[in-house]
Amino acid sequence: SARPGDMGHPVKPGQAQMGFRLPIQYVNRQRSDFRGFAGTIATGAIAVGQAIEVLPSHRQSVVERILTPQGEVEHAGPGEAVTLTLADEIDISRGDVLIDPCQDDAPQLTEAFDAHVVWMADGQLLIGRQYDIKLATQSLSATPEHVHHQIDINTLEQQPSETLALNDIGLVRWRLNSLAAVDAYDRVPALGSFIVVDRVSNLTVAAGMITRAVSGVLADHAENVVWHEHRVNKPQRARQKSQRPAVLWFTGLSGAGKSSMANALEQALFQRGYHSYLLDGDNVRHGLNRDLGFSDEDRVENIRRIGEVAKLMADAGLVVLTAFISPFQADRQLVRSLMPEGEFVEIYVKASLEACEARDPKGLYKRARAGEIKHFTGIDSPYEPPQHPEMVIDTEALSIEQGVDALIQYLKRSNILI
Ligand code: ADX
Repeated sequence: SARPGDMGHPVKPGQAQMGFRLPIQYVNRQRSDFRGFAGTIATGAIAVGQAIEVLPSHRQSVVERILTPQGEVEHAGPGEAVTLTLADEIDISRGDVLIDPCQDDAPQLTEAFDAHVVWMADGQLLIGRQYDIKLATQSLSATPEHVHHQIDINTLEQQPSETLALNDIGLVRWRLNSLAAVDAYDRVPALGSFIVVDRVSNLTVAAGMITRAVSGVLADHAENVVWHEHRVNKPQRARQKSQRPAVLWFTGLSGAGKSSMANALEQALFQRGYHSYLLDGDNVRHGLNRDLGFSDEDRVENIRRIGEVAKLMADAGLVVLTAFISPFQADRQLVRSLMPEGEFVEIYVKASLEACEARDPKGLYKRARAGEIKHFTGIDSPYEPPQHPEMVIDTEALSIEQGVDALIQYLKRSNILI
């Protein structure tokens, strides 16, 4: 049967610059004094004398010899079939992946991933059933847990679906019985694609392309996996969730659309498997901050507390969204200064006072104009627009969906969503 690892994926431009990856195809023990590890280099280059690490065991050694069909060489690059011998006698078997231990873009060791799947069998995908997966040279057992959505091939629209039938394409969460070394398909096709084999019929029933590892541990160093006596820290909590923590701070007038935008973005993040939490008036002003009103002092304290809570949640590894007017520049600046560089994303949800007043979803502007509510933002209390927000979403020009798209694109561009 076909094995993706043997198919010879085209080497994409850029694969030479990436860190070394060699999925092991077979172990050559022709002579008692010779052990060679053979495969096709997926990415990066290797040279005699260079250190390698074995995934998933994390054992390390140094390359002694590089043998190719053309003879012995000093170095080799992506797409080349090689047999390596190593300085140390370490256990390596078919399916292991040799990598450069110093690279910062290593594959992820994971027990679960999301993948776009093309279903090619008459019988439909069965959630909860065990299938065999061939991923590069790895043979794995995997269970589809959940279909995130199906994709309509004509309109490319995402539709909710419980399963996939013949020729359907969908995004599926797979859980493995063991750790596997994987990459996203768009980075490393060889370690990001797989086929699914039915255990009973032995037929290939699907092909998949990984979008992201889930609950993975980065395969960088063994210390990150074995925790010893250290306490669990922020990078570990984030890595467990396969995401970068961040605080997405929505600010703007009442009625500008902060809550709607933040809610829609959180839904989009949730669908993509991110772990998030939305702080807004409903869960904060009714609980933690129920002692606070709308005087300048109380608003300052409101934002200070929300900032501290958001910081703790980011420390827990979450993508935090906040939706508060937060009218004062200085308070938003204070929260920004609590966070590491790049983790605070200020999103100005922009709409003119006239537009907000015309929308008046809660009838509060009317009451403020009538003098029934004092210190109302925009009427008799100031709003200081952000000077340098990371993003401006003009809700008079954009729909919620367009706003969410723009935000997702920004978050991807700035590597907050990985
Ligand atoms: S903030 O200024 O302290 O950031 P926050 O976002 O928590 O304000 O609360 C604003 C919400 O409280 C508004 O959307 C509105 O529904 C309600 N509200 C009640 N009184 C006022 C007021 N005087 N000014 C602004 N919003 C008010």
